[in-house]
Amino acid sequence: MHKVMVTGCLGQIGSELVAQLRAQNGVDSVIATDIRRPDHNETVESGPFEVLDVTDYDRMLKIATDYQVDTLIHLAALLSAVAEERPQFAWQLNMTGLVNALEVARELDLKFFTPSSIGAFGPSTPKDNTPQDTIQRPTTMYGVTKVSGELLCDYYHTKYEVDTRGVRFPGLISYKTLPGGGTTDYAVDIYYEALRKGHYESFIKEGTYMDMMYMPDAIGAIIKLMNADPERLIHRNAFNITAMSFEPEQIKAAIQKELPDFEMTYAVDPARQAIADSWPNQIDASCAKAEWDFEPQYDLEAMTKDMLAQLKTRI
Ligand code: SER
Repeated sequence: MHKVMVTGCLGQIGSELVAQLRAQNGVDSVIATDIRRPDHNETVESGPFEVLDVTDYDRMLKIATDYQVDTLIHLAALLSAVAEERPQFAWQLNMTGLVNALEVARELDLKFFTPSSIGAFGPSTPKDNTPQDTIQRPTTMYGVTKVSGELLCDYYHTKYEVDTRGVRFPGLISYKTLPGGGTTDYAVDIYYEALRKGHYESFIKEGTYMDMMYMPDAIGAIIKLMNADPERLIHRNAFNITAMSFEPEQIKAAIQKELPDFEMTYAVDPARQAIADSWPNQIDASCAKAEWDFEPQYDLEAMTKDMLAQLKTRI
């Protein structure tokens, strides 16, 4: 991973991954790309940036060739709730983008990473301690694209020897860039509203457990997996990883420890609740631990302290 091209770099994961890789390896070590070039944006201004629509194969290949990258990290995709509103477009963007990225990786012999998700599981998946290898029959278009993507990445590895690697991310919580259109977004929104209004109205119902992770652990996981010894990797696409599992009442209680006057009520969104209900309560990350030493640092309490401290200076 000396010269990395990142697609979807203005998203929740991309903006932090690009910053960390540039800090570690130098600004020119990352070619950041996204479909738009906003003004006054740190990711755009802190190093090489190119506008790229990931459904445009020729442009993707040209950028990767011109900059002589050795790694492609493909993040551009629609999240679960927006994908459910526009399923045909979600298939087009998530799958065409992925096929193009895999083809560029094959053509140029690049290392490859793309995230899968807890959304790759469905209602018939065991809900507790969800195994690495288990039933995957998701009922959302997001999940359909994620399972298809996992299979396609494994296929490119076995058929073409492309060094594809991936993780199934849980809900990711961060303070730098907001997620857009996900089901787990409530666990990000809640911190903003706690500080702004002292109150949050949750669109996810009490008692709904989902896996979550603080962004520093997510970025650390990508970098660790990409640097892992391939000899140790029994799995590739994609590893279960998680740092914590909680339901809305538990994140509320964690915030109340820091902000005692914080209150939460519910206005459940049936669409996003249905998506959440189809996902696991808590997944088993033991293969990631055994095969590449995945080890998250933040639990709910540590994350809450840091989120609130960081957001206080930003809001
Ligand atoms: N956080 C994502 C979502 O809610 C799951 O991968 O869509």
